[in-house]
Amino acid sequence: MPPRNSNQPRSKSFIPYLAFIIFSAIFVFKVDVIISQTISSARRNVEIATSAPNVVIGNGTFHRHFIVSWGESRARILEDGELLELSLDKFSGSGFESKKEFLFGKIDMQIKLVPGDSAGTVTTYYLSSEGDHHDEIDFEFLGNSSGNPYTLHTNVFSQGKGEREQQFFLWFDPTEDFHTYTILWNPRCILFYVDGIPIREFKNLERRRVPFPKDQPMRIYSSLWDAEEWATQHGLVKTNWTLAPFTAGYRNFSAEACVWSYKTKSSACNSNDFKSKRWLKTGLDSRSRAEMKRLQKKHMVYDYCKDKWRFPKGPGRECKFQ
Ligand SMILES: *[C@@H]1O[C@H](CO)[C@@H](O)[C@H](O)[C@H]1NC(C)=O
Ligand SMILES: *[C@@H]1O[C@H](CO)[C@@H](O)[C@H](O)[C@H]1NC(C)=O
Ligand SMILES: *[C@@H]1O[C@H](CO)[C@@H](O)[C@H](O)[C@H]1NC(C)=O
Ligand SMILES: *[C@@H]1O[C@H](CO)[C@@H](O)[C@H](O)[C@H]1NC(C)=O
Repeated sequence: MPPRNSNQPRSKSFIPYLAFIIFSAIFVFKVDVIISQTISSARRNVEIATSAPNVVIGNGTFHRHFIVSWGESRARILEDGELLELSLDKFSGSGFESKKEFLFGKIDMQIKLVPGDSAGTVTTYYLSSEGDHHDEIDFEFLGNSSGNPYTLHTNVFSQGKGEREQQFFLWFDPTEDFHTYTILWNPRCILFYVDGIPIREFKNLERRRVPFPKDQPMRIYSSLWDAEEWATQHGLVKTNWTLAPFTAGYRNFSAEACVWSYKTKSSACNSNDFKSKRWLKTGLDSRSRAEMKRLQKKHMVYDYCKDKWRFPKGPGRECKFQ
């Protein structure tokens, strides 16, 4: 959802917004249902088998750390588990998820998005907990027609409440090569990075009565699916199915993350191995924050904090302190 064009009369810009919100809701619901249906049996077997809770994973292969949760052969693990490809055709998209759940971590993934005319396609990469009051940290990439920019959509849900969208146009072509998308999540803040550059910060503002995700373990998810009804230019540009299958690639997954243990109901972050980890304690320093603000000024195309139309009574309390 790009920022509302203030030159437009209200009645005109109202429809795409509503459509976006409705379809977002349907998407979250649809993906949740699909994922929970297709993998509920697989999931039951996964967590019980975890080894010691304080395992740090790094340079992991896709075989070791993920399972294909949706789309069957449309998701393929290649190159001895170092490359994963998701694809989307007229019949289905595809997706994968981590075997383990984490409570806090620094998680890197390199992604190469659907090239060419990717209108209507959405590639998601996110962390999410389960249940009615779930937490979620989202990267989503909304495709576009050839020559037009992808939209990088980000969001943070805490205890079931989202509506914290910020969107960016990337400063490179994300389909030409792999780029690194990082989520850093610790008790102080959530940081989104692109190629090591911070693009978004969500601070822990619990003392200002803003719920912060810090009690529910989250799994890593990714999917490629079709959202031609709303994704590209508010649904005006549809998916060109003669170009199917659409494919996105993933590689070089690396995570320093605290595995959640169901046995002990605790996160490995509590163990001595993690006490000295810098990523678990630090937020942005003032230099990095300045760099982020500069980048946002140039590349952010939508900020919920500035959306008076959607939030006539003012956006979330956190906006005052960002
Ligand atoms: C992954 O491997 C690279 C080189 O192959 C190394 O520099 C890096 O430290 C490794 N990362 C982790 C988390 O082990
Ligand atoms: C696609 O490109 C158009 C034209 O540059 C832009 O307005 C739109 O925000 C882009 N992204 C999406 C998801 O439609
Ligand atoms: C869809 O893709 C085909 C194959 O490249 C192309 O010939 C056709 O013009 C495209 N249709 C649209 C509506 O862009
Ligand atoms: C893979 O990731 C590691 C650590 O995140 C990084 O040092 C290395 O350069 C990456 N490899 C490639 C080929 O990008």
